[in-house]
Amino acid sequence: MSDANVARAGAQPNAAAPPAGEARLQVRALGKHFGAVQALSDVDLDLPAGQVTALCGDNGAGKTVLTKCIAGIFQADQGQILWEGKPVHIRSPRDAAHLGIETVYQDLALADNLDIVQNMFLARERLRGGLLDEDAMERDAAETLASLRVTTVRSIRQPVGSLSGGQRQSVAVAKAVMWNSKLVLLDEPTAALGVVQTKMVLDLVRRLRDRGLAVMVISHNLNDVFEVADRIAVLYLGRMVIQDAASAFDRQRVVQYMTSGGTNGSG
Ligand SMILES: Nc1ncnc2c1ncn2[C@@H]1O[C@H](COP(=O)(O)OP(=O)(O)O)[C@@H](O)[C@H]1O
Ligand SMILES: [Mg+2]
Repeated sequence: MSDANVARAGAQPNAAAPPAGEARLQVRALGKHFGAVQALSDVDLDLPAGQVTALCGDNGAGKTVLTKCIAGIFQADQGQILWEGKPVHIRSPRDAAHLGIETVYQDLALADNLDIVQNMFLARERLRGGLLDEDAMERDAAETLASLRVTTVRSIRQPVGSLSGGQRQSVAVAKAVMWNSKLVLLDEPTAALGVVQTKMVLDLVRRLRDRGLAVMVISHNLNDVFEVADRIAVLYLGRMVIQDAASAFDRQRVVQYMTSGGTNGSG
């Protein structure tokens, strides 16, 4: 990895990092139903650059559906998505990837039998003269992991099935940011992790933010939320009941919004 700095072909950390807080993605009045189920109603959400936004809400609140609308897996019935201030139609995950939106899903979608490099380049393999360019892929994977300080994996040629939960999650996140991404969506990244591994992943989330990416983290865990979030947004029965700076909340208030939409609490 010693010459990694010389041949930088892939990711560009800090490339054109905008001032923190600049609007990157804005969701406006989004609606989505499945048959009779109104999964999202009139949802607004701001995801600024250089900030971590925690998306909270009880089971069934619409967190995953909202994420999938942004990621191009679902099409909203109403409303608009603005990317860097301009209206966009994100009709497929490919559209999302073109804009610089990457998603890490709950189930991770890593292939256990493939090694770390193969996973990071899955379906985006780098070719040279019609053959896989293993050297370039290995170098870029190593560089991305190193730049994110994912240092606990012993070899990037080890199968993903042999990694711990935290390492797997780190590889999934590194894979997501390797493609010059500008917005990373993480659905419950720490749900299956122990204390040490959770810390590792939250550190990684902070590093993405410090690079100027917009980050959205879905989490049930209020410890994680308060540890890492700059902003908190709460969905309740498919409606966005509040979004504000994390400093405007305490745990009790977030729980109140999550469980009642904030209407019957005492403040
Ligand atoms: N593919 C689907 N088909 C039908 N209903 C769905 C589908 N995906 C989600 N829903 C419904 O939309 C609502 C929000 O779900 P979801 O976004 O998964 O909640 P969560 O906040 O737990 O992630 C739920 O009522 C769920 O049953
Ligand atoms: Mg969900």
